[in-house]
Amino acid sequence: MVEQAPFSLPSVAFFGRTLAEYLQCFCLDAKDLRGKRVLDCPGGPGSFAAEAADLGCEVTAVDPAYESSADELEQRGRTDIDACIAQMRAKPWAAPPSDLDAYAAAKRAALERFIDDFRANPSRYRAASLPVLPFADRQFDLVLSGHLLFLYAPLAEDGLLEGHRFDLAWHHEALGELARVCSAEMRIYPTLALNAAPRRHCYASPIEADLEARGWCCSFLPSNYAQYAPSWNDCLVARRLSVSAST
Ligand SMILES: C[S@@+](CC[C@H](N)C(=O)[O-])C[C@H]1O[C@@H](n2cnc3c(N)ncnc32)[C@H](O)[C@@H]1O
Repeated sequence: MVEQAPFSLPSVAFFGRTLAEYLQCFCLDAKDLRGKRVLDCPGGPGSFAAEAADLGCEVTAVDPAYESSADELEQRGRTDIDACIAQMRAKPWAAPPSDLDAYAAAKRAALERFIDDFRANPSRYRAASLPVLPFADRQFDLVLSGHLLFLYAPLAEDGLLEGHRFDLAWHHEALGELARVCSAEMRIYPTLALNAAPRRHCYASPIEADLEARGWCCSFLPSNYAQYAPSWNDCLVARRLSVSAST
């Protein structure tokens, strides 16, 4: 049981990850991405989109922050990395078990690669916010959503966000929208309760039931991404069961 102050944030951090980290989080192999139309939502200041494009993946990253300039994003990314790392030093249950300096260096490297690609390939990055996405039905083969859903639920509901912006009703709408634009498979990570004794997030069960009612088959795959305790460190995988399902 966590006995100290919870890991909490007043707003969603602009904090990103590398391709290698994504493969761990989402239980994927690089070859799973080749030739696929992939949506990364939210993309944050991560290098996944740039690196996956190099592998032959047609990737689109979405984030409301992308309405800002590259200079503004770089500044915001540096500030948010520093703030998150400082809080992880004080609250080790929310930090990777490995070297925190190396972890922070990977975040800064991801930010630099993102900023270079954001400038060089702006069409890969779209400014938009869940639960409304500017895409056609089933436009993507694979939808990845990391470190927003579940994690930024209200503090009192297994998340780390102060306030109730991303409550359960929002989660149902956001998952419905991700499902609408996805033709085959969605992966959501993480799915654990961050500030509690290890267990699955309290929204996971209602979200799973909702997706199954919409014609999706859900499973939880153990992730080997090392930021969180190994128990309940799962990725939610949802596969569309039938091409005639409505969403
Ligand atoms: C912690 S980052 C996660 C980035 C990346 N997916 C990862 O796993 O590292 C969360 C991102 O969610 C974005 N965000 C905030 N509200 C959002 C919304 N309503 N829809 C989509 N993205 C949102 C933020 O701008 C931020 O970049």
